[in-house]
Amino acid sequence: MVKPDGVGRGLIGACIQRFEQRGLKLVGMKFQQLSRETAEAHYAEHKGKPFFEDLVAFITSGPTVQMVWEGRDAVAVVRRMNGATDSSQADPGTIRGDFSLSKQRNIIHASDSPETAAREIALYFRPDELVNYALPTEDWLR
Ligand code: CMP
Repeated sequence: MVKPDGVGRGLIGACIQRFEQRGLKLVGMKFQQLSRETAEAHYAEHKGKPFFEDLVAFITSGPTVQMVWEGRDAVAVVRRMNGATDSSQADPGTIRGDFSLSKQRNIIHASDSPETAAREIALYFRPDELVNYALPTEDWLR
């Protein structure tokens, strides 16, 4: 998910381009401002932490882009491409390492496991909103 800072700073395209160039396949996408209810469900595991209120306020403060990407070991690959949660610690070449310094306003969110991905995808997409198709490049990226 491109977060409100990523959208506001004009980085939607830059994020998408990196995943496309890597060879991942886009199978779902939405552009929306999250309700408080959805944001709380998304970040349920952080409820009770000192930064939870700030986190919900930030993620609901502007539009966001939800995306579902498929590919070989996609969860781990995307997390490495995003870089460390605290952008000031993120390696150059990662999205956060190239575009951010912040821990909270860190441009992008990605699921941390296939199980989390399944839960987060279900939060944002109905099954019929995910597109099943073949990319002609898939054979080169297996
Ligand atoms: P994200 O991948 O969206 O998952 C949880 C988010 O909480 C994380 O990225 C950060 O944006 C935010 N976060 C984690 N730890 C802190 C912290 N200590 N202070 C503020 N925000 C945090």
